[in-house]
Order: sequence, then structure tokens, then C-alpha cells
Amino acid sequence: MTRVIAHPNIALIKYWGKADGPGNIPATPSLSITLDTLCTTTTVEDAPRDEIRLNGQVTTDAKVAKFLDQLRREFQVPPLSIESTNNFPTGAGLASSASGFAALITAIDAHCGLNMDATRRSQWARRGSGSAARSVFGGFVSLQPPDWAAQPLRPASDWPLTVVIAITDTERKTVSSSHGMERSRLTSPYYPAWIDSTQAAWREGRNAVEQRDFNALAAIAEHSTLAMHALMISSRPPLLYWNPASLAVIHTIRGLREAGVPVFFTIDAGPQVKAVCLPEVADSVASSLRSLPGVVTVMNVGLGPGASVVDA
Ligand code: DP6
Repeated sequence: MTRVIAHPNIALIKYWGKADGPGNIPATPSLSITLDTLCTTTTVEDAPRDEIRLNGQVTTDAKVAKFLDQLRREFQVPPLSIESTNNFPTGAGLASSASGFAALITAIDAHCGLNMDATRRSQWARRGSGSAARSVFGGFVSLQPPDWAAQPLRPASDWPLTVVIAITDTERKTVSSSHGMERSRLTSPYYPAWIDSTQAAWREGRNAVEQRDFNALAAIAEHSTLAMHALMISSRPPLLYWNPASLAVIHTIRGLREAGVPVFFTIDAGPQVKAVCLPEVADSVASSLRSLPGVVTVMNVGLGPGASVVDA
């Protein structure tokens, strides 16, 4: 039996869109922060046949089945019982597939002795879900060409930030990231402009992280979020992930920053808004967001480590 813990990550420079061909290669580079506190715990053990349990329920997850098929074309992997538990809501824009696939490949690698290094695990995690490549590493992480393995840029301890997560809806989202990306590629008139602009955004984000320049990171991260959502909204049918509370949180965060509070927002394929801030203002940011109508829960989390084996 092998047990692994992995944490979700949040992209500050967004991945949205896939390159043609196999391997789930993103069409855009991205940059993220890995969280602490929220986690996926995955246990694998030998079994007479594959059995997958997610949060205690037996499931037939097509993405996991495809992932295991691909892995078995290259490695000897026996039938496995896989049990995965999230301590946060699944499929509500909190990147459960990122921590899920990072945990899964790390657990299978250790359990079956596949001898992968972190770069290889990241490439395999990417095949399961693009964002999962980044959760193999902790702190600030980049995912870029040519090999599309994630790279750690800075450990969490180098630049401690707090993420205040404002949950505005706990239902599972209706359009998955994979389907949404494909819809944007096929239908949005802005798709080529989005692809063209992401390289420069990624470079700007990377420089801001290298220099630990909070204001520069705030500006480019909010731009990346809004450009991605403009693309989503311009898809047909439109992908409009925000609800009124999401918008109220955006405006509140913009107001706080104008008043000199070091905080910015980022939003993925769901209605939750994450406020990224310096730790000393986290409690006051959290209480501003908690009082907004439609905000269901607010959680403060720090930056955390990459996927690791906790029990072998
Ligand atoms: C908006 O990694 O979930 O969170 O590769 O199809 O599994 P697949 O997509 P996924 O998409 C993440 C999209 C995003 C932005 C990001 O995390 O970069």
C-alpha cells in the first residue's frame, strides 16, 4: 500500500486551450502557486482488478481509465485499487483534477517502482490534466514548452503569500475545463488573439515572481484572468462561470487594492474567486469578502509543497 498527498494549485497565468495531437499539450504556457491545507490523499494497492474510489464512492472515471491505459502501454502496472479523497469540494473550480493526477502518478510511480523523476511525473500528470503537471511541485511553478514538464520557480518559503478563497457556489460546475477549452478554440473569434498574447503574459508573470514584485504580479495575473474569461464569454454557447457574488468579490478586491491593500484576484473555470495577498492583510481581506451577499464560505490558505509519498 502506498499513500501520497498532493495539493491543488492555482494558475496566476492561465492555461486555456490545447495544442493539436496527443499528450494533452497545452496551447499556452502557465504559471501557478501550489496551496497548502487543501489536499488530495491517494492510496494505491494491488487488487484483483482495477477499482477506483473517489471520496468513498466507487466511480468509473473516464479520464482516470484513459490515463491508466496510456501508462500501461509504457510500464508494467498491475491491477490496482485506487482510493482518492479530497478535503475540499470536488469539481467546483478548486482544481481537484490537478491534485488528483499529481497524487495518482506519484503514488503509482512509488508503488510500482517506475523510477520516474519529478520531471517525468509532471509530464505524466499533464496527460491526465494539464494543470496537474504543476501540482507535482510546490511554491511558484511554471509550465512551458518545449517539454511541457512543470518547473519549480521558487519554494513557498521564499515568498509567503496567502490565498483567501471566496466560495460563492458549492455545486459541481456544468462545463468541464476540457470541454470548455475545445469550445473556445472552435467558436470564439478571440481565440487566436488569446494564444498570441499568452507568451508575453507568462514572461511578465515569471519576471514578477523572480523579482518578488507584488504589484507587477497583481497586474499581470488579473489581466490573465480577465483575458481568459473574455475568451470564455465570447465562446458559443458562452461560458459564463461568474455569478453575482463573483463580481461583487472582484469589485471589492479592486477597491481594496486602490486603497493600498496588497491583494489581487484570480478566477478559474468556476464561480469561486481567489484573493491572493500578503499574509499580514489576509484576515482583513477575508472579513471584507465574508460580509458580501452570496459569499458562502471564506478560507485562508498558504502556499504549500509538491506531491509526496507519506506512507509506503
Ligand atoms: C482555468 O487542467 O483542468 O484552471 O488539461 O483538460 O484537464 P485539462 O484542463 P485543466 O484546466 C485548467 C484550466 C484553468 C487554468 C489553469 O489551471 O491554468
